[in-house]
Amino acid sequence: MGLFILGITGASGSIYAARLLQHLKTNGHTVHVVLTEMGHKVCAYEGFAKLEEEADKSFDNHDFFAPMASGSHRHDGMVIIPCSMGALAKIAHGIGDTLLTRAADVCIKERRKLIIVPRETPMSALHLANQKTIWDLGATIIPANPSFYQKPKTIEDLVDTVLARILDHLGVEHEVGKRWRET
Ligand SMILES: Cc1cc2nc3c(=O)[nH]c(=O)nc-3n(C[C@H](O)[C@H](O)[C@H](O)COP(=O)(O)O)c2cc1C
Repeated sequence: MGLFILGITGASGSIYAARLLQHLKTNGHTVHVVLTEMGHKVCAYEGFAKLEEEADKSFDNHDFFAPMASGSHRHDGMVIIPCSMGALAKIAHGIGDTLLTRAADVCIKERRKLIIVPRETPMSALHLANQKTIWDLGATIIPANPSFYQKPKTIEDLVDTVLARILDHLGVEHEVGKRWRET
């Protein structure tokens, strides 16, 4: 079983974080979370207040003494979900002034798995350039863009079309959603 870090920012889409956390926990993985201040507020606003209570550990976004702030801390991947354009910009430019952006910066320097799930629309040239920078640094960008070819019936089904891609890239076995043309 793996140890995964979830970073949750103040972009819309806390249901993505909630379902990823729930999936990893029910499948026996260890999950450490860090929410930004706006992450807490938007999660509460969207109906997922205190979602961090489901995690094994939750860290304050200014706790630079947390394990994830250090390159010596071993884990199996970090997902920033949903990722605001502000956090994206900081990560693209190595600004580790919060635990979340520091932990992402550590993933990049240690060449650990980092998955960014950006959420904004439309995107400016700056947003796109920052994503390209992060991709060039080795991170994977999985936008919060659900797909429809599996004919999702509920919001959860729709969210799970993105979740399935994230779990694939984390290397986590799962049964979330159907695979294209597999029975
Ligand atoms: C309800 C709500 C929804 C928001 N949705 C987004 C969004 O989808 N993408 C985004 O980049 N910012 C969004 N924002 C703005 C961010 O919360 C804001 O830029 C904040 O500074 C992000 O800080 P953080 O990266 O530290 O969480 C939203 C704000 C609110 C109140």
